[in-house]
Amino acid sequence: MSNMPVKNVYRICEKVVVYLEDCLTGMRKYLKTGEVDVVVTSPPYNIGIQYNKYDDNRPREDYLDWIEEVAIEIKRVLNDSGSFFLNIGGKPSDPWIPFDVAQRLRKHFVLQNVIHWIKSIAIEKKAVGNYPVIQGDIAVGHYKPIGGKRFLHDNHEYIFHFTKTGQVQLDRLSIGVPYQDKSNVGRWKSAKQDKRCRGNTWFIPYETIWDREKQRPHPSTFPVALPEMCIKLHGLEK
Ligand SMILES: C[S@@+](CC[C@H](N)C(=O)[O-])C[C@H]1O[C@@H](n2cnc3c(N)ncnc32)[C@H](O)[C@@H]1O
Repeated sequence: MSNMPVKNVYRICEKVVVYLEDCLTGMRKYLKTGEVDVVVTSPPYNIGIQYNKYDDNRPREDYLDWIEEVAIEIKRVLNDSGSFFLNIGGKPSDPWIPFDVAQRLRKHFVLQNVIHWIKSIAIEKKAVGNYPVIQGDIAVGHYKPIGGKRFLHDNHEYIFHFTKTGQVQLDRLSIGVPYQDKSNVGRWKSAKQDKRCRGNTWFIPYETIWDREKQRPHPSTFPVALPEMCIKLHGLEK
């Protein structure tokens, strides 16, 4: 198949096919029960973003009903040792959205991990201590600037890791980080190599993706590294 759309189906390469349609319709049409290993998704957050067609200002209960319906379908297609990563944020004047969503999904999934997607961080040299690679104060990444005195700049979002059992075994070192103190390598039973678990704070700088046709940025893209890390963490071989 070429790269041209056939009824909204795009074959990117031998292994990747993109279906451009409503997620519920698509899952019901194409996916068998229990055949999916990993779902990574970032739904609209219902915070009034200007999408082309989608209305991002729905009454809260309608929005939660819809998210729950999608989650139930995800549960159907996911296998018993699968992972469902849900990236979601709120807005300073409505910070409950991610928690309301997580609460709705609680009756369908176990919340196995809560990951914080950190878009920007400031680290002062004096707080770090004697780390040779950090020479001075640093402030890295991009953030959504918020004016006024009530709210802080919005520098993070959530990635909720839902599973069916809470027992899914992850490949933590696939996205691990090297030890700063190399004397840890070999000292602990678990430290056989120069890598430790990254933990649940992921610094991934934000990118702005331009919509080439409309010459404006897509209002809410996530960096490719985010789904990549989720997929690797789940483990490619299971
Ligand atoms: C928060 S954005 C996520 C963008 C994604 N993080 C990315 O980087 O590509 C939400 C997206 O969901 C899309 N969307 C809204 N309703 C949908 C539906 N029923 N099925 C599939 N996608 C939908 C919106 O058009 C928007 O592009």
